[in-house]
Amino acid sequence: TDIQFDYANAMLDAQELEQLEPQVLLAHQQLHQHTGAGANFLGWVDWPFNYDREEFHRVKQAAETIAQQANILVVIGVGGSYLGSRAVIEMLTNLFYAHLPTQKRKFPVVYYLGHHLSSNYMADLLELIEDHEVAINVVSKSGTTAEPALAFRVLRAYMEKRYGVEGARRRIYVTTDAEKGALKQLADEKKYETFTIPDDVGGRFSVLTTVGLLPIAVAGIDIEELMAGAQAGVNAYRNPAISRNICYQYAAIRNLLYKKGKNNELLVNYHPQMTFFCEWWKQLFGESEGKDQKGILPSSVNFTTDLHAMGQYIQEGRRHLFETVIFVNRSSKPVMIPEDQQNRDGMNQLAGKDYDFVNRKAYEGTLLAHVDGGVPNLAITLEQLTACAVGELIYFFEKACGLSGYLLGVNPFNQPGVEAYKKNMYALLGLPGYERLKGQLENRL
Ligand code: PA5
Repeated sequence: TDIQFDYANAMLDAQELEQLEPQVLLAHQQLHQHTGAGANFLGWVDWPFNYDREEFHRVKQAAETIAQQANILVVIGVGGSYLGSRAVIEMLTNLFYAHLPTQKRKFPVVYYLGHHLSSNYMADLLELIEDHEVAINVVSKSGTTAEPALAFRVLRAYMEKRYGVEGARRRIYVTTDAEKGALKQLADEKKYETFTIPDDVGGRFSVLTTVGLLPIAVAGIDIEELMAGAQAGVNAYRNPAISRNICYQYAAIRNLLYKKGKNNELLVNYHPQMTFFCEWWKQLFGESEGKDQKGILPSSVNFTTDLHAMGQYIQEGRRHLFETVIFVNRSSKPVMIPEDQQNRDGMNQLAGKDYDFVNRKAYEGTLLAHVDGGVPNLAITLEQLTACAVGELIYFFEKACGLSGYLLGVNPFNQPGVEAYKKNMYALLGLPGYERLKGQLENRL
């Protein structure tokens, strides 16, 4: 496996973890024998082996076609329908890819839309794509989510005006439910190429389905490698014995810390290119566990950047948090520190060393400081950010999340709380069916 887990600084006794063994075993059975809450959303557990090979092949073909058609792919989706692909693409490609000169870009640039309702963003994106060839991938399992539905409405009109109905048809790719939903109906009617989101995989667990794979493949990332890494994860993290399963250790320890009042988890990275991975992770755990008035609040920080912003709080603020650090041992693009004759910054000691060395020392120093400050620390280490390692890391957190949710005693696979804002928004927008609620809400505003 590509991942190591160290909980030596979790500030727990060894027995505390051992005592959780029966509960971990039960949660493991719930995941594998489908006996827990939300059991009809467990398709992701064996997905890295069970995925549809024909559709996977079609994804690769579509990615090639898109690369011929366009130099920009706009992915329209929100929540689980965009965070995963964005996380993977940012981790595995040049962060400044879009700004490279055209001749240095072999693959289309992927931009995101439909994940908010900001008019400025939409207008800016429309301005940007005007001078480029464009393809669209609209991703929505339900097909009725307001943010992507409206964004697709705008973009579809734009594409049909610009390329004609037939030209737009060839450049629009739809990822949605196999049978149900407004988007599926529209796709059938318009004869868009369509990919399927499996019924038994919820949005936040869907990055390794076509939802994530099509944009990821378009960005030039090897999706075979990604799936191979996830397969390694399935094999590595199916052992029910907690002593032999680091994924279950992580899930169990965060629940132990939660019970001790550490109800905020900070996911820490040391590479800006992992910012969106943390966003994906926040959705995964926040939407899975934050219910029934329970759950750790997942948040994230980018180090060392945020040591100059959030570092003070972490070191000395309220002691209700713990850190989970993802540290990458080796960069794929090492940069050396040069000698400086004048040595005004006093750093000549570091000349000839690379940035990884400095980043590691920053990590080690911070780890000890935060532990001294009373912040329990869990450390996840990857050798390098490769497609394979990322595939395994995704699976590590998905499995940990399922297990952790069952340990907490919630259904990790539903999200009833997401409806409350939608209902109010639809009512305030005056959509049919919400007439009474509209009046009630308006009286309160
Ligand atoms: O995890 C989830 O289920 C949600 O975050 C969804 O992914 C999100 O609400 C988007 O839904 P849809 O794909 O149906 O548009």
